[in-house]
Amino acid sequence: MNSIIYLDHAATSWPKPPGVLQAMQISMEQSAANPGRGSHAMAVKASRVLFEARMQLAKLFHVRNPNDIVFTPHTTMALNMAIKGLLKEGDHVVATMIEHNSVRRPLEYLKRTLGITVDYVRVNDKGELNIRDVEIALKKPTALVVCNHSSNLLGSILPVEEIGRLAHSHGAIFLVDAAQSAGILDIDVERMNIDLLAFPGHKGLLGPQGTGGLYIAPHVDLEPMLHGGTGSQSEEKEQPTVRPDRYEAGTPNTVGIAGLRVGVDKVIELTPKWIYTHEWNLTQQLLIGLKDIPNINLLGPDKGMPRTGIVSFVVDQHDSSEIAFRLDREFGIAVRAGLHCTPLAHYAVHTEQSGAVRASVGVGTTEVEVESLIRAIKQLCK
Ligand code: ALA
Repeated sequence: MNSIIYLDHAATSWPKPPGVLQAMQISMEQSAANPGRGSHAMAVKASRVLFEARMQLAKLFHVRNPNDIVFTPHTTMALNMAIKGLLKEGDHVVATMIEHNSVRRPLEYLKRTLGITVDYVRVNDKGELNIRDVEIALKKPTALVVCNHSSNLLGSILPVEEIGRLAHSHGAIFLVDAAQSAGILDIDVERMNIDLLAFPGHKGLLGPQGTGGLYIAPHVDLEPMLHGGTGSQSEEKEQPTVRPDRYEAGTPNTVGIAGLRVGVDKVIELTPKWIYTHEWNLTQQLLIGLKDIPNINLLGPDKGMPRTGIVSFVVDQHDSSEIAFRLDREFGIAVRAGLHCTPLAHYAVHTEQSGAVRASVGVGTTEVEVESLIRAIKQLCK
């Protein structure tokens, strides 16, 4: 039994499956040499850790060649690599009103430095997007369409397969931010027309912090963001063209990736379908439990509609940070309050002033824990 009720899985999942820590310890003790550098037995063992994790990720995301997946320390790095490695002066980009700052800030930076233009497609007040609005934004030649798979504030799910189809029909590259969906929603990069997929290792994939990755379709050549040692083609002054080396300069987080591999194994064993259903049921319990509290405004899709394991809400006359603080101190319940690094999404649902309280469930969350949250909020709202 955990000492706290942890409902902040959208920020990072916790606790991790027990084998994650064990795999990290074994890696640290037995195979934490530098992978791809040197051919001694322990370096080869370390390379194997990366190889096997890549294989499992490729299986999960239906990627044909595991070398098209590169490891990064987090989704933010993956998104920066994709956006800054692809866009050129004056390019046009289509994004949405519910992007995280990890998409918005690189785009705004390139607006200032490269003169790119960006259309942020609006969403309705539930965070749902009308595909017709993407089509309208795509009228001009567009280099990149980027969107999240699921909003980290609202839990709404975007129709990525259709968005990708539209992007391709206009000759644009399609980048998906899977920060809230990897391990929770089925992802098939080919069927869903995804050219670039940025994902965290430490959320739905149940691995440790400091892990993440980027899938780069074979036909996409990103300019590498990092230049340096790869352990390969050392005589060349340019970054190697071979993948994954081209995008993996520097010593990787071998120990973290050993843990990530176990997390991904667990996801494959349980299946994203089961995880999604488990989390969806808990969100419905929470929506039903909170809906009759008079001063609560629930954000995101209506009850019964698709959503990932996120329920955000605003309590009239109460600061969101105060509610989160009291949930933590008085009830031992961990949630996240504020703007969640996504002010755009808050603008979209008119909560940019109040912020919101976000509860997010995970693979190990129980109905009893959700019930405790409902009881605590009722008490705080009295
Ligand atoms: N992006 C993470 C969140 O939504 C950290 O909390």
